[in-house]
Amino acid sequence: MPAVPSPLNLNRPHSQANHTSLNHHDEHAAPPELVSVANGHARRAALEPEFVQQYHEDSGALRVQVLEGLSQPQASISPKFFYDVLGSRLFEAITDLPEYYPTRTEAAIFASAAPAIAARSGSGCVLIDLGAGNCEKAARLFGSLRPAQYVALDISVEFLRGTLSCLQQQNPDIPMLGLGADLCGTFDLPRSVRRGRRLFFYPGSSIGNFAPLDALGLLQRLRAAAGRGDGVLIGVDLHKDEATLVAAYDDPLGVTAAFNRNVLRNLNRIVGSDFMLEDWRHVASFDRQASRIQMHLEACRNVTVHWPGGAREFAAGERIHTEDSYKYRPEDFAMLLEAAGFDDPVHWTDPRGWFAVFHARA
Ligand code: AVI
Repeated sequence: MPAVPSPLNLNRPHSQANHTSLNHHDEHAAPPELVSVANGHARRAALEPEFVQQYHEDSGALRVQVLEGLSQPQASISPKFFYDVLGSRLFEAITDLPEYYPTRTEAAIFASAAPAIAARSGSGCVLIDLGAGNCEKAARLFGSLRPAQYVALDISVEFLRGTLSCLQQQNPDIPMLGLGADLCGTFDLPRSVRRGRRLFFYPGSSIGNFAPLDALGLLQRLRAAAGRGDGVLIGVDLHKDEATLVAAYDDPLGVTAAFNRNVLRNLNRIVGSDFMLEDWRHVASFDRQASRIQMHLEACRNVTVHWPGGAREFAAGERIHTEDSYKYRPEDFAMLLEAAGFDDPVHWTDPRGWFAVFHARA
């Protein structure tokens, strides 16, 4: 899922990490292809995706990051900690909620704009999916884009293995690479990424989980990694009425609340803290000035949270910030792309103007 401040998407445990950089070619699995001969007939052997893991988790650094966030006057938890196994499942459930319009609105835009997207970006590109998750969104574009290679990026290739192997069997003509990398560093693609025109694909409005300046930084890193003729294809959630926005992040079934509170379970696991989930309630609000949904966890009573070597008291009503989700006006996102050095931004939207898919050229 959601490949984010660290959004990098990614919809998987740690998929939203923002530390370390994408460094070089560490581990390679066997290359794809080839051919066996049976009864005198050459047959293509089952194609296997290739996997390269560049990112290596540093549990000490994660712990420091968590405790720093908890110790600030305004306590915060990075949204990347949402995506443990249960959190990833809860996010998938969110995308099925009637109130959570982004996923299905974006899918409808991709379905109707696929020929126009292909006309702009050209077929036969190397499709680099920065928010791969279950690879579903990119797979829907295979028919129109006919990529020369599909590169699925997530923090950990382990989360990509099953999905990518399945996808490879269904699309034996598209070589596939699973890349374990963190979007929030310098953007060095390994040699296994083919040369040729590249399309950087960042769907799902994960870009909205970055503050605008950080989003600009990410776009600039992509621009630096892109060559002439390359492009970006990015899903962006748009500014709209407050009631619609708040309902999408505070559903009556309580799935988003569970997703938000689950981060405390994950923290208990990572740093050995003793958060009690029943002490915390989910709060989602729209900050009109900043054009962002903010998610917090609010203490229902006075609470003391302990962890090995430390503790923090929270007064009843005190909040921990867990996520921002920025909503753009189309002209503002186009300006952000241009400020990052991309040219000729165009976008497609839905009839209500709730979501946009942008394409721009390097
Ligand atoms: C992953 N990201 C784009 C989601 C969003 O809409 O900002 C995460 C999310 N948080 C609550 N609901 C969904």
